[in-house]
Amino acid sequence: MNNAKLIVLEGVDGAGTTTHSRELSRGLRAAEVQVHTTAEPSTGPVGALLRQALMGRFVVSSASGSVRPPNWTTMALMFAADRVDHCESEILPQLRDGVSVICDRYYHSSVAYQSITGGGPEAIEWIRDLNRYARRPDLTLVLDVPSEVAAERRARRRGEEIYDAEPLQERLCEFYSDLERHFPGEPIEHVDAVGSVEEVAERILARVKRLG
Ligand code: TMP
Repeated sequence: MNNAKLIVLEGVDGAGTTTHSRELSRGLRAAEVQVHTTAEPSTGPVGALLRQALMGRFVVSSASGSVRPPNWTTMALMFAADRVDHCESEILPQLRDGVSVICDRYYHSSVAYQSITGGGPEAIEWIRDLNRYARRPDLTLVLDVPSEVAAERRARRRGEEIYDAEPLQERLCEFYSDLERHFPGEPIEHVDAVGSVEEVAERILARVKRLG
């Protein structure tokens, strides 16, 4: 890779974006590419609030006293706020220093999760617009796994999150299968993420190394 790139890994929960961000970083470092690994929600202040919301610990109470997670519009706005802060405080400074950035999830997750959890197809344009000033990735790789494989991997994970319900994850799988449809002109490619960690990591690294 000639100059610093922003590379995003995307997919449903259980697709392996976190494992493969780490593997990709290891592979690139071995090839002497300077790389910084990060994730969304970020470790910044809005990201911390989002983690609480994802775990069901930041809730909205109604007049009757019942509580629920913030709705999809609040979540879309918070994810967008976290993202611009993430870009400003971490992603852009690294890129300016000539360091490539691997980001585990980015605005594609907002378009997928926040449209499916309430906004519907008509919300996609608004969510994309909220993220208009976030740096475009040089490459986004969608890790493709059948929904049953992702479900098995999620079952091994500790702790529940508000987006864990099976029917929702199945709809997300379908959405991710043609994610590029919602981001015309963006470099988005799919990687078969079924196989051992080493096999999948090899596929991802080979694709990233082809970046000019
Ligand atoms: P993860 O750390 O396990 O990937 O969890 C992040 C969760 O947040 C995951 O369920 C996807 C969700 N999410 C959104 O709903 N919108 C977003 O914009 C991002 C970045 C993540």
